[in-house]
Amino acid sequence: MGLISLVTGISGPSGFGSSSTAEEVTKGVDASRITAIVTGGASGIGAETSRVLALRGAHVIIAARNLSAAADVKEKIVRDIPGARVDIMKLDLSSMESVRSFASEFTAKRLPLNLLINNAGVMLCPFGLSKDGIEMHFATNHLGHFLLTNLLLDTMRQTAKESRIEGRIVNLSSVAHIAAYSDAIRFDSLNDKTRYVDRGAYGQSKLANILHSKELSRRLAAEGVNITANAVHPGFIMTPLMRYSKNLMKFLKFFSSFLWKNVSQGASTTCYVALHPNLKGVSGKYFSDCNEARPNTLATNEELAKRLWEFSQKLTT
Ligand SMILES: NC(=O)c1ccc[n+]([C@@H]2O[C@H](COP(=O)([O-])OP(=O)(O)OC[C@H]3O[C@@H](n4cnc5c(N)ncnc54)[C@H](OP(=O)(O)O)[C@@H]3O)[C@@H](O)[C@H]2O)c1
Repeated sequence: MGLISLVTGISGPSGFGSSSTAEEVTKGVDASRITAIVTGGASGIGAETSRVLALRGAHVIIAARNLSAAADVKEKIVRDIPGARVDIMKLDLSSMESVRSFASEFTAKRLPLNLLINNAGVMLCPFGLSKDGIEMHFATNHLGHFLLTNLLLDTMRQTAKESRIEGRIVNLSSVAHIAAYSDAIRFDSLNDKTRYVDRGAYGQSKLANILHSKELSRRLAAEGVNITANAVHPGFIMTPLMRYSKNLMKFLKFFSSFLWKNVSQGASTTCYVALHPNLKGVSGKYFSDCNEARPNTLATNEELAKRLWEFSQKLTT
């Protein structure tokens, strides 16, 4: 799948392509035994992912920092889809305290967990540190999801064992991982304001999303647990993600409208990787336009993935 298929919408080996919608790629899938958490499910791609998972019968927990936006999304889904099961829970991924309290609240509910969609994200924000003193892209897009995943893994393991349904973890990355800093992950100067470049910081966090899914997948396989982990690039979709770069994005879209997707097309790769039976047992991969794709070489570097894991572990304990 390359530029030509992106522009023309021609399907790839999966039978789907850039113009496929989330409803199309999940047609006929029965998700009624699935419980899913979608982070950032109150907006953009996450809201559409939540809707389509609910449409296929899944019990969806929208994990959001903006509970009133999440309530609006829930209300619309429940109104439009008879019998839809949607709940909302508070989660601020830029705060480890919030991630821990979300995980313990979720665990206390004793719900199963088959599917974790690590979707929430921020892009190109001005330099800022999280409550925990970590650069904001890295804290929100990677570290919060790293901690959340670790805290929910026992529930996922248990669910996979008892239900005999493959658990799946999907990390929303981006083709922008190629714009990471030239030193890839700034292990020694993550929070250095003087060296901050917004594109590099966003790219670094999206590179981390791929490396995280890769190392997680390796660990899950070594454990022999029935859970997969993959990363996706959803395409280019005009969403509130662009709030810090609205004018630049509008300008770019004007000259490259053929490269952009609508939100239902933007949620298709996530929904395909989350639910499609073709991907049973497929783990540690990167997907774009509903097909496996090749990320850049840094994203396939196993040593870098291990180092990032250890670094993230230290920052979250
Ligand atoms: N749109 C694209 O073209 C594109 C391209 C490549 C990759 N992606 C990736 O796709 C994912 C979804 O993006 P989108 O386009 O759907 O953007 P979006 O509409 O802005 O959705 C992102 C969601 O993440 C939430 N979020 C941000 N910071 C958070 C935090 N600290 N704690 C909890 N939730 C937080 C946002 O909540 P608020 O509404 O409260 O801010 C929002 O609900 C992101 O990971 C993004 O990097 C998008």
